[in-house]
Amino acid sequence: MLAGTPPMGWNSWNGFGSRVSEDVVRQTADSLVSSGLRDLGYRYVVIDDCWAAHERGKTGDLVPDPERFSGGIRPLADYVHGLGLKLGIYSDAAELTCARYPGSFGFEEQDAALWASWGIDFLKYDYCHAPQDQAVAIERYTRMGQALKKTGREILYSICEWGGRNPHLWASRAGGQMWRATPDVLDSWTDTWMEKGNWTGIGIDSAIEAAASLSEYAGPGGWNDLDMLVVGLHGSGSIPGEGATLREYRTQMSMWCVLCSPLMIGCDVRSLEGPVREILSNSGLIAVSQDTLGRPAVMVRRTGKQEVWRKPMADGSIVIALLNRGATVADIALRPVDAGVLDSFRGSVRDLWKKGVVADYSPGFSLKVQPHETVVLQLAS
Ligand code: GLA
Repeated sequence: MLAGTPPMGWNSWNGFGSRVSEDVVRQTADSLVSSGLRDLGYRYVVIDDCWAAHERGKTGDLVPDPERFSGGIRPLADYVHGLGLKLGIYSDAAELTCARYPGSFGFEEQDAALWASWGIDFLKYDYCHAPQDQAVAIERYTRMGQALKKTGREILYSICEWGGRNPHLWASRAGGQMWRATPDVLDSWTDTWMEKGNWTGIGIDSAIEAAASLSEYAGPGGWNDLDMLVVGLHGSGSIPGEGATLREYRTQMSMWCVLCSPLMIGCDVRSLEGPVREILSNSGLIAVSQDTLGRPAVMVRRTGKQEVWRKPMADGSIVIALLNRGATVADIALRPVDAGVLDSFRGSVRDLWKKGVVADYSPGFSLKVQPHETVVLQLAS
């Protein structure tokens, strides 16, 4: 099944914006391999907006930017495939993309056939400059979904209309395997609502909130997409934001994993610093994300700014996220009823960040959680 577990990879937008090039893509692919990230599951290398020339060619085909992608996309796909990775590309369900390059509206079959001939494995399909209503969105996304299917190539379809038209209710039927549930997530804990061009965004905290009511709509083959990771950007990416702390980046990784969001790295993996690599490489958390049961966590308790989220796993264990959205350290209790275990349960509790057993579980269990921290625990009998 395509996207049987949440897709993982890297996307050019957050780090590079309009500076994306074939050199960046090749070097990124190399780095995914040498850093071990590919083997942890990060497989899709996605070229976001700004890869195309401003005009279509004589036959109406999209043409790669003659300077930044002078070698063409096909050789790039071959290179990426040779490393055991997959290549993604980007377009928009209107005449223009968000950055005002040609979109695919009216060219769905032609563009899908071209991408398939290049060896493309993933399409992110955006919604700038398109009509606001849901019916038109469904129609336009379905048209591209059908065009992709018609190519006969397995192309993962990533629907990106930012959640405004309830895509969790229709995106699967339109052919999508993931759908954005949020506006762009900024490199920031809070909403800075910074405007850059014609889009706005939200912070990590609000993105988690947006996902809280959507868990039941996702599962194997179709996922709520909380947007790309801002982990490691430190305020220097092309996505706006003043940067978040390492603890906040850990929370993004934690919550994206327990919520089964796709994990698309946004920072420059060619120069990964130790702590960022450690966050992105947390194999215990990646195993939670990639669990075959594919059930996103649900919030089982909220007391003020402290929350308990629960995710059942295929092996019968239970993953709990203790999230402190508040500005001061807090004790968060994990009651048996929150964990979904009997009062008599006395299993082990593993901390997936500290990477070890923290304590034996008993009904009075609680932990100190720092401001904006998420402690992720796995309870097994
Ligand atoms: C929109 C999307 C972003 C990115 C840009 C590209 O804002 O939400 O993820 O693709 O367009 O222009």
